[in-house]
Amino acid sequence: MPLDSSPIPDELKGLRIALLVAGGIAAYKIVDLASALTQAGADVRVAMTASATRFVGAASFQGVTGNPVLTGLWAADGPAEPHVFLGDWAQVTLLAPATANIISRVARGQSDDIVTATLLASRGPVVVAPAMNDAMWSKAPVQENLSTLRGRGVTVVEPESGHLASGHVGAGRLPGAAALMDALASAVRSRYDLAGRCVVVTAGGTREPIDPVRFVGNYSSGKMGFAVAAAAADRGARVTLVTTAMHPAHPGIDVRPVETADEMLEELKREIAGADVLVMAAAVADFRPARVADNKIRREETPRLSLDLEQVPDLVAALGKEKDAQKVFRVGFAAEGSDLAAKALEKMKKKGLQAIVANDISRKDIAFGSDHNAGVMLFADGTREDLPRMTKREMADRILDLVRPRLNS
Ligand code: C5P
Repeated sequence: MPLDSSPIPDELKGLRIALLVAGGIAAYKIVDLASALTQAGADVRVAMTASATRFVGAASFQGVTGNPVLTGLWAADGPAEPHVFLGDWAQVTLLAPATANIISRVARGQSDDIVTATLLASRGPVVVAPAMNDAMWSKAPVQENLSTLRGRGVTVVEPESGHLASGHVGAGRLPGAAALMDALASAVRSRYDLAGRCVVVTAGGTREPIDPVRFVGNYSSGKMGFAVAAAAADRGARVTLVTTAMHPAHPGIDVRPVETADEMLEELKREIAGADVLVMAAAVADFRPARVADNKIRREETPRLSLDLEQVPDLVAALGKEKDAQKVFRVGFAAEGSDLAAKALEKMKKKGLQAIVANDISRKDIAFGSDHNAGVMLFADGTREDLPRMTKREMADRILDLVRPRLNS
């Protein structure tokens, strides 16, 4: 927690935040902010100007964030263009303390050090928190430069009045961690439509053991679930992905590997309490071996093997009955070979879902493992949306576009 022990806004949890530190005395306060954000689950990376390193050591920031700190454009190791890497990576960027000098350089569009270059390369919203001597703060060039930045969509956090390092009393103090976090949170809210939301996604086909080395499984690749998780994270949500499949994970997603339907249910029961949305893209087994052999079944001793399969309880239907799940918007998937919409509608009702995405597994161009999907999305409120063939990532965003306005405020 920061020194003023204010709660961290939900929007910042799980977010990728770049803290750009310039050479002001208040730089030491940003160490505390970086620590508080990291403890709250944000992924924080810091870049510092050369002057900033005269006030605070890069090692302090590295220590509290657990990430390498950029102190120049020519990092000995790490990405070739560190400013482009950080600009791409960050979902939101804070420049603090912003000195009169760096404000002027940013306003002119300079990019001759790691901080100014990262700002120019940033893709997310930018918050600037000035801190300087009261006389410098009151000067026209500083105020004009800040107006320029505001005009470009930058959020400027007004400095506080009070005791200044120079011994003067006046405007120019860096606001406390709570004000900086609030400014970051509102910048995030205005850019990302799922900021502050918690989305739980399942992906892949479950593997139901026969013995210690064999399982009953299915062809689900997990690509659709991974696409939904990535899209939700890109839109600012905190995302938990409960998955049997493994693909490169999008940064910031909390990946929970599982194997069986039972393990998936256990994770979901834990996660459902704080969730706003559940997207059940996983192909959960319908049947599993009724008994699991303790030891590997040996071919030499088993001329013929019959598997006795029992039904797997419906996870999403069971979850829907839990008290914690009542406020969660639950989306299921239905893979069907015929009568797509009719069968999906029946499933949505039976499983108590708010929506269902039905896709046609008889089509060769969108089958299991493909990067594309197509189908129809039905809502419990009666709405029907066709989803023409598109990439799974495009469909993930389309699904979230349709779910977002239906979430409670
Ligand atoms: O009944 P069907 O398997 O077609 O339903 C698919 C939907 O139900 C998916 O969202 C899937 O994740 C979910 N499901 C489940 N538990 C099962 C089987 C399916 O939650 N045992």
